[in-house]
Amino acid sequence: MEMKVKIDIQNLYKHYDNDDKRAKDAPTKNVLTDLNIQIRAHEFVCVLGKSGCGKSTLLNLLAGYIKPDKGAIMVDGEKITGAGKNRGVVFQEHALFPWLTVEQNIGFGPKVCKKTKEQIKSICQKYMAMVGLEKYKDYYPDQLSGGMKQRVGIARAFANEAAILLMDEPFSALDNFTREMMQTELLNIWEKSMTTIVFITHSIEEAVFLADRVIVLGQGNVLADTKINLERKRDVYDPKFIEYVNEFNHLIEQQRNQEEA
Ligand SMILES: Nc1ncnc2c1ncn2[C@@H]1O[C@H](COP(=O)(O)OP(=O)(O)OP(=O)(O)O)[C@@H](O)[C@H]1O
Ligand SMILES: [Mg+2]
Repeated sequence: MEMKVKIDIQNLYKHYDNDDKRAKDAPTKNVLTDLNIQIRAHEFVCVLGKSGCGKSTLLNLLAGYIKPDKGAIMVDGEKITGAGKNRGVVFQEHALFPWLTVEQNIGFGPKVCKKTKEQIKSICQKYMAMVGLEKYKDYYPDQLSGGMKQRVGIARAFANEAAILLMDEPFSALDNFTREMMQTELLNIWEKSMTTIVFITHSIEEAVFLADRVIVLGQGNVLADTKINLERKRDVYDPKFIEYVNEFNHLIEQQRNQEEA
């Protein structure tokens, strides 16, 4: 069954003014030029591309934190004009509320949404289990390691149960073991929900492991938009898996070489 379009990125343009005073004549930087992407409900899309190609810019536009120069992003047919409850965001670095415990941080969104005490408790339990932090529920952020804080940030974003999750390299600061655990848990949660996920990563393997579709961004537009035809749970040693990885690797390398030339 074809799912309906959830996110429709239409002719999107975004530039930044060059504010380097030493280089007055430097041109403004066009980051996104006529970007068009459609994402269906419950799709898991990973975005790859070399550093500086505009991945975080795209995510900030999707979150509604910044505005495009031209074009629009539609969610369920409605134009985004700012941040909204239907979109949850997970950044690489997550600012937690230092005066709240792990459990209170995770329960913050549901509380704001006026859920009952029992509902909040069960939501917190579910997502603390997801990130393996039940034992730390009464700890404060400054008593946690960086990776643990990051897991609280992820659990907090999930606890809002937003229809769309926007994730900007959420696992890149985690050690391998924790990252693999989080990837598996993320897929579990996603499969059980109707969440639509846009996930940015530097790791090509991570993208091929997670995504229904991988989008490679080039110089402001889409270099590749590839459906990953592999059953889950995916095996990183499967020759087909490695083929996808090599294909994306090649594309991004080409992009790097073009830039240097
Ligand atoms: N607020 C800003 N003002 C000026 N230039 C910016 C701003 N934010 C980003 N840029 C520039 O826009 C380009 C795209 O940045 P962006 O952060 O979207 O890249 P990215 O693909 O997320 O990179 P990375 O993989 O390193 O996170 C970069 O050249 C960056 O220097
Ligand atoms: Mg970025």
